[in-house]
Amino acid sequence: MVKQSLIFDGNEKRVYSTDDPATVIFHFKDVATAFNNVKTAYFPEKGIVNNKISAYIFDYLQRNGIHTHYIATLNEREQLCRKSENIPLEVVVRNYIAGSLADRLAIEEGTKPSTVIYDLNYNNTELGDPLINDTQAVALGIVSFDDLKYIYDTAHKVNSLLLELFTPLKIKLVDFKLEFGRDTDGTIMLIDEISPDTSRFWDADTDKRLDKDRFRHDLGYIVASYKEVLDRLMSRENK
Ligand code: TMP
Ligand code: ASP
Repeated sequence: MVKQSLIFDGNEKRVYSTDDPATVIFHFKDVATAFNNVKTAYFPEKGIVNNKISAYIFDYLQRNGIHTHYIATLNEREQLCRKSENIPLEVVVRNYIAGSLADRLAIEEGTKPSTVIYDLNYNNTELGDPLINDTQAVALGIVSFDDLKYIYDTAHKVNSLLLELFTPLKIKLVDFKLEFGRDTDGTIMLIDEISPDTSRFWDADTDKRLDKDRFRHDLGYIVASYKEVLDRLMSRENK
């Protein structure tokens, strides 16, 4: 497998083609962005830590029956992934209320809702990734109702698996964002990343933020906090 050209240069990641049309290489940068790119900064080693965390989580999900794009880690910043046609939706799963939902409904951060909340966003930067609903997503031709059923079922399974993973590590899984794509056969799979950039992880005892909210709200110790998540995941391997 040989790395070829840059096909996508995102804020926090790059994607390269390879000599195999069915695979791409994901490269994790040391940049953080928030609030639709209004805020951006450089954090040495953030990409290395996120590559490790996301690879660990995708490998864990895959071993537990979730079809994902992850194939293998190539080096400290890069992973080999199945090529996908991206579905322009973001599915946010919320076990606790925080962030935009806390603001929008004026509910205190950390409140536990009586049921898990699933939000759907249209991944469209020009429009600011607006919330949409299921019938809008189908009407826009983005997905079918059957696709949405598969996506929500998968999001539910991922949430159960992540709760099993993080609860013993004393990390409260507040919320996280998932993206999906279609592989070369058209089958839907989980893509992108799951990391402190795309999730809210709170220390279970103190509610200390171990995620991108440290950057959004200028709390400092960003990479140190991401490393704490990685260290706790690695501690599972030594048990
Ligand atoms: P929110 O509170 O801003 O709606 O975000 C909910 C979760 O989803 C949070 O963990 C951050 C993540 N997220 C992304 O990773 N990318 C996005 O574009 C958005 C809107 C949220
Ligand atoms: N990625 C989203 C944005 O750039 C949400 C965030 O990270 O704050 O606004």
